[in-house]
Amino acid sequence: MTNFDSQFPSFPSTRMRRNRMQKFIRRIVSENTLTINNLIQPLFVTEGKFENTNIVSMPGVKRHSVHSIVKEAKEIYNLGIPAIAIFPYIPKDLRNENGIESINENNIICKTIKEIKNSCPDLGIISDVALDPYTSHGHDGIIIKNEINNDKTIEVLCKQALIQAKAGCDIIAPSDMMDGRIKSIRLALDKRNYINTSILSYSAKYASSFYGPFRDALGTKNIKNSINDKKSYQMDPANSLEALREIRLDINEGADMIMIKPAISYLDIIKSARQNFEIPILAYQVSGEYSMIKAASEKGWINEKNVILETLLSIKRAGASSILTYFAKEIAKSL
Ligand code: PBG
Repeated sequence: MTNFDSQFPSFPSTRMRRNRMQKFIRRIVSENTLTINNLIQPLFVTEGKFENTNIVSMPGVKRHSVHSIVKEAKEIYNLGIPAIAIFPYIPKDLRNENGIESINENNIICKTIKEIKNSCPDLGIISDVALDPYTSHGHDGIIIKNEINNDKTIEVLCKQALIQAKAGCDIIAPSDMMDGRIKSIRLALDKRNYINTSILSYSAKYASSFYGPFRDALGTKNIKNSINDKKSYQMDPANSLEALREIRLDINEGADMIMIKPAISYLDIIKSARQNFEIPILAYQVSGEYSMIKAASEKGWINEKNVILETLLSIKRAGASSILTYFAKEIAKSL
């Protein structure tokens, strides 16, 4: 008969604290590490006259001009951060129902991509494909008959992806959550011979209230429209199996990497994605996650640096390869 106790010895012969007793032991038994390779810095860019505007709900984050984002990108590159993700603030007079500015080859995003690639060619650029910064209603797609029209939106997304690839973007990141857009974008890119432009699909993007401060940054928050929320395309926070279906579809359509977003409230999704698929998984520590940490640390209620490191490490432990975080630059210096 098996002696249960000798096969699985327990206290007092087993003392878990032995492996925690000294710093060197804690180091050699450590299971997960956060390195600078895991950090991606999101940045906001806008036309000259709106530049340097601080975003009140995101202390320490601002909208850059093209000139200042180039400078910022260099600093980020010199710190060793591998990539940035860029988002535009579009002046109100350039927004319309169909978000037409999104497919203007000379728009702020294309200008930014070119300028950064000129001065910092080895810094990876991830650019967002979605219509929300460009539409007067703030939705990620085109509204037809009071509905975000999936297939019409995809036509525009393909054009948007193409001009960004042409400008020199390394990774196209559709964050719109339309069905089938990865396949269409891949085909459109390949047809124009952008065979090496990667696609990072926001596969499991939840309809989250943690995006509030980001919508302040883009000026898409208080827009009145007939469809008030994004629940007809972004996922229900109650669902996890659905996330696996989304990811599987995007992999089959040709995604190179997938994103799960937000991060901290969705660690279970990251973990099950990691267990089910071989594809690289990125996670987005979104604006609301950033702002909560900033606000509490401004009040002196938490230790900012330690909380940032703990959240980022937990996202890695769940299974993310890398993390989009507004803290990237700040925390890179401590790694
Ligand atoms: C929209 C988009 C959003 C974010 C990234 N892309 C917000 C939204 O869906 O309304 C949120 C990022 C953040 O909160 O930091 N395409």
